[in-house]
Amino acid sequence: MLDHILKKAEDTGDLNLDEIEQLLRLEEQKDLDKLFASSYRVKTQYVGRTAWFRGIVEFSNICIKDCYYCGIRRSNSKTKRFIIPENDIIESAVWAWKAEYGSVVLQSGERDDPEFVDMVERIIREIKKRTNSELGLTLSLGEQSEETYRRWFDAGAHRYLLRIETSNKDLYVRLHPADHSFDHRVACLQLLRETGYQVGTGVMIGLPMQTHRNLAEDLLFFKTLDIDMIGMGPYIFHSDTPLASFRTEWELPPKKLLNLGLKMIALARLLMRDINIAATTALQALEHNGREQGLLAGANVIMPNATDTQYRESYQLYENKPCTDENASMCRGCLQRRVEQIGEKIGFGQWGDSPHFAARQDNKVVTAK
Ligand code: 5AD
Ligand code: FES
Repeated sequence: MLDHILKKAEDTGDLNLDEIEQLLRLEEQKDLDKLFASSYRVKTQYVGRTAWFRGIVEFSNICIKDCYYCGIRRSNSKTKRFIIPENDIIESAVWAWKAEYGSVVLQSGERDDPEFVDMVERIIREIKKRTNSELGLTLSLGEQSEETYRRWFDAGAHRYLLRIETSNKDLYVRLHPADHSFDHRVACLQLLRETGYQVGTGVMIGLPMQTHRNLAEDLLFFKTLDIDMIGMGPYIFHSDTPLASFRTEWELPPKKLLNLGLKMIALARLLMRDINIAATTALQALEHNGREQGLLAGANVIMPNATDTQYRESYQLYENKPCTDENASMCRGCLQRRVEQIGEKIGFGQWGDSPHFAARQDNKVVTAK
């Protein structure tokens, strides 16, 4: 039965909800090995065995949002708030460029005040200037207006990550206060696409009240949206958040949670063969080689931390975030070793766009003719 479903997935890139759910429920190691072997074959064929590096700069934990799961939500008064000075953010990006990272992700808590929007625009322009426009720039700065998305795009950002968190509206409502809107978030994903960004989204895996069915639907949501990139990872409890009260009832053992994250990556690769999929840091919070396991399950992007060490401790979306004591060059060396150990190459010095995005651009040209 398993062989039959995996063959169908490899041959067609399509599975129905029941089949996806069945694969997400696999627990036996020998079955998991089969699933990961299958998704790794698809990865090798469609995107190759290159891991793309994206240096991530987490430049501020000041946030206007209040998501019930997140350690830097505005109501968490225990978090010491910071914003890295503009020039230091730029320097981190320039460092990443010199370290031959093809691309950098700028992430922070959400803000939409004019001062913030202007600052980000200036930073983007300056990074582009200082790196001869060679460094790829991804933003992960939450929900913004059409005008803001446009301004940042015109300044030189070309990719944007905005997780839907869960594609199930009822569950979304339970995880957020009333003024956080699922429909608005979907509309933002649409806006980002129309503005011209390569769009990435993702979910948290192993949330309280989340079912295997929900996760199967998340994967089909990504597929329907025709997204270019996925960044999804395990949900990890944070004590100073409202969701912590669900801990005793809903917390999964780390191994089980890690496996669920890996199964999601494998299925995403089987269903969306030529997109970029990140092995996120939260995987590493569960097992020291969690990200390498992510690459072996089908991911092809890794995001070494390029944030100044002094700020890392305060950017704790979840507990026990790894690498908060390391500096950027330690993260580079550590990851390079880890990736090479599993026999993969690192895509230094290139943007590493997904073939999926390239194919869509080609189609556009064809239809425009
Ligand atoms: N565990 C895992 N991921 C989390 N995020 C926020 N809080 C947590 C948590 N407790 C993720 C959200 C958000 C991204 C920046 O961090 O998915 O989109
Ligand atoms: Fe929404 Fe941090 S407050 S993800």
